[in-house]
Amino acid sequence: MAAAAAPPPPPSPAPIPETTVPETAPPGHTLFARIRVASILDVPHIHKLIHELAAFERLSDQCAATEASLAATLFRSPNPPPPFTSFTVFILEVSPNPFPPIIPDSNFSPLLKTFHLDLPIEDPEQEIFRPGLENDVVVAGFVLFFPNYSTFLGQPGFYIEDLFVREPYRKNGFGKMLITAVAAQAVKMGYGRVEWVVLDWNANAIQFYERLGAKILQDWSVRRLTGDALEAFAHFSV
Ligand SMILES: CC(C)(COP(=O)(O)OP(=O)(O)OC[C@H]1O[C@@H](n2cnc3c(N)ncnc32)[C@H](O)[C@@H]1OP(=O)(O)O)[C@@H](O)C(=O)NCCC(=O)NCCS
Repeated sequence: MAAAAAPPPPPSPAPIPETTVPETAPPGHTLFARIRVASILDVPHIHKLIHELAAFERLSDQCAATEASLAATLFRSPNPPPPFTSFTVFILEVSPNPFPPIIPDSNFSPLLKTFHLDLPIEDPEQEIFRPGLENDVVVAGFVLFFPNYSTFLGQPGFYIEDLFVREPYRKNGFGKMLITAVAAQAVKMGYGRVEWVVLDWNANAIQFYERLGAKILQDWSVRRLTGDALEAFAHFSV
């Protein structure tokens, strides 16, 4: 008879995010980070972030988003859809001071993480990326994603449209925190995958994704109908 299997180890308790400066913080610079679901109040910052991403991708001439178009389409008034059922934006904020304790939310409880950096971050744009009442908080990045569907998996997934960490904050783990938040939400919802496209010259992002273990789909390329070509289909008689 086979020996009885050992009982599974007890689940380890969930890590408790730091909400005070730890007395034993290592030397360097401590920065507290929070990811939360964006609201219509974040539109001015989302708009600036999208235009900074477009400039980085050398596609500013194609970026027509305005604050009004983003407000109307991302946060449809008066009843915006619940997060994750449609277009969803996670905002990454950082602060030299701990964020207040999280109030659990049935949709998404904000995520907190503490970063210990070797050097302080110089952010020349910090004043224009202040989210509001909390004076020491700065918006450092965002990710915009929405559900898609894989017929082969027979499961929904998430498609990431934009992932952006503002330049002074890069290479400190913030991008990983953002994409991990999307992946964790996909797993939580029982979704089968998270996918996105990347420009083939964007070596930094490609290395970043490789480091995360994301698979490159060599056999696939993107197709798009937009502008006049899309309009033409409206008049195409079948
Ligand atoms: C791509 C981007 C989101 C990455 O964010 P980031 O905050 O700089 O990345 P992180 O610091 O979280 O990096 C996470 C991991 O990737 C590694 N990494 C990041 N950039 C890297 C690079 N250029 N080369 C090699 N590894 C890299 C980090 O070392 C880290 O690895 P580790 O966890 O093993 O230490 C950010 O650089 C960015 O916004 N770039 C401009 C816009 C852009 O390219 N967006 C993506 C469009 S598809």
